[in-house]
Amino acid sequence: MASQFPISGLRSVELIVPDIAAAVAFYTRSWGLHAVEVGAGVAYLRASGTDPYVVKLSGGPSAGIVSVTFRAAEDADLHQLRERMTKAGGSPIGEIEAIADHGGGTGFSVRDAAGRCYRVVQGDMPSEPVDAEGDRPDRLAHVNINTTDLERDIRFFEDGLGFKLTDRSKMMGFVRTNSDHHAIVLAIAPVDTLNHIAFNHDDWESVMKAAGRMCDGGFPIGWGPGRHGPGDNVFTYFVDPFGIVIEHTAEVLVVDDDYRVGGPEDWVWPPGRTDQWGIAPPKTEECKKAQLAIPFL
Ligand SMILES: [Fe+2]
Repeated sequence: MASQFPISGLRSVELIVPDIAAAVAFYTRSWGLHAVEVGAGVAYLRASGTDPYVVKLSGGPSAGIVSVTFRAAEDADLHQLRERMTKAGGSPIGEIEAIADHGGGTGFSVRDAAGRCYRVVQGDMPSEPVDAEGDRPDRLAHVNINTTDLERDIRFFEDGLGFKLTDRSKMMGFVRTNSDHHAIVLAIAPVDTLNHIAFNHDDWESVMKAAGRMCDGGFPIGWGPGRHGPGDNVFTYFVDPFGIVIEHTAEVLVVDDDYRVGGPEDWVWPPGRTDQWGIAPPKTEECKKAQLAIPFL
């Protein structure tokens, strides 16, 4: 029998930025999202798919990430999930309650051992998909999280949220909660910060067009284009105006329970390569630095 996941997928990220108006302008004009609700001190941005929003922006002195939100499967018991995450080392924040964010729903928040906030929502209001115009993201693809304890954090996703390990490279663990190869990547680092947020596209053509729109806007590619090893997805990385690393990606590998979990020995690049095609130039220093710098608040 195929795996049943209590979490059906990654839904949104909640970010802090020092200038909400500038962030809305950037994320709608250059990155390809749409503003669905802009209020005093808060903005909700959607992609072209069915999620009510994929990025919530609030104001603060400097950039940070507040939380990563997952959607619980329709038949998942939120009480059980919350208990499971707590048993796995998380600390609940508040109770299970109605969510006041755009799209609503019911949910809860848990802080993991490193203090990162993960939210689980169920019954949020789906949006009518909008015309993607071939160059806009349709949803989040994955969030890559730096970790000072990879084994601990893989275990938290497995035991707490019911994820499965799909691949393990020397520096990273890739975990899934549906047929996408990964929804979360955990990357060994000296800090427990955000590495980057990836936005999903229909195909690589859309990723290239979106990268072109960024270049037109004066935002150079930080890494890529290329095709990753684990997950097989096409990528271009950028640093947003506030120092947050964001990725346009497409064509992530679809897997099932028959997928053989790879180990570090399976994911070794030939000298000089960092992607399957061998075309990605070295990552910029700015991008490398930014991939460590954004704290969970
Ligand atoms: Fe990524």
